[in-house]
Amino acid sequence: MKAEERTFVAIKPDGVKRGLIGRIIKRFEDKGFKIVGMKLLQVTPELAAKHYEEHIGKPFYNRLMYYITSGPIVAMVVEGYAAVESVRHIVGATDPCNADVGSIRADYAQVMEYNVIHASDSVASANREIDIYFKPEEIYDNWQSTLEKLVYDEERYKG
Ligand code: CMP
Repeated sequence: MKAEERTFVAIKPDGVKRGLIGRIIKRFEDKGFKIVGMKLLQVTPELAAKHYEEHIGKPFYNRLMYYITSGPIVAMVVEGYAAVESVRHIVGATDPCNADVGSIRADYAQVMEYNVIHASDSVASANREIDIYFKPEEIYDNWQSTLEKLVYDEERYKG
């Protein structure tokens, strides 16, 4: 686990249409995470199929394809200590009914079909999803966040 661990986050079309972009990004910034990649994009059916290939054949797959292509998303690469696990906690359980109080899905969503946000579930998934949505030159990490030195001890957690 590295201080510079990266994860992939997407504010889904319902989150964008409901005007939640700023409030959601704020949670990651408030935590001290560094956003090193971000863009608004329309997910094509091809891109959606690539992202969610593990769900092909599941009963909810067609609805998921419709949902994720129903408007633009905000795709992000979020960096920080244990980013994958930590961001998943901030996002909350897939089913908003079971999401911890204070998580994004607990606060803003009711059902799995419209759960507002996606976050990678492992480092391997994060790497795969970042590769799907971002070219290497679209990731900007050559700047220092003012929080970087305050939210974890660099010497202890690096490497
Ligand atoms: P996400 O974290 O993006 O991963 C897969 C998505 O499929 C999930 O969030 C939901 O948006 C969607 N989904 C819809 N129905 C289900 C279901 N029954 N089980 C799991 N995921 C579902």
